[in-house]
Amino acid sequence: MYVCICHALNDKKVKAALDQGATTPASVFRHHNCQVQCGKCVPTMRSMASEHRAIMAQQAAIAAMPAATAPCCGTASMPEPANAEAIPAYAVAAE
Ligand code: FES
Repeated sequence: MYVCICHALNDKKVKAALDQGATTPASVFRHHNCQVQCGKCVPTMRSMASEHRAIMAQQAAIAAMPAATAPCCGTASMPEPANAEAIPAYAVAAE
């Protein structure tokens, strides 16, 4: 899909510029060695840049999350609570 008709910039070219550090329509134009002409593409480019930033922030947040140290279920044993005798399920399991 063409985003900028004046410079024949399609969505792949815009995404490539965003992937390589462009953050605004002006920086997308600079990346492709051109300048805005009619400006009709600017709102679409701005929207694409905003979406790109949101995706990058989401990926950074996921990457910053600590890795799971143990599986949530399965063979890993969970530590027994201090009041295990007061919990009926533990008493049954201990029998
Ligand atoms: S459509 Fe992009 S400058 Fe005209």
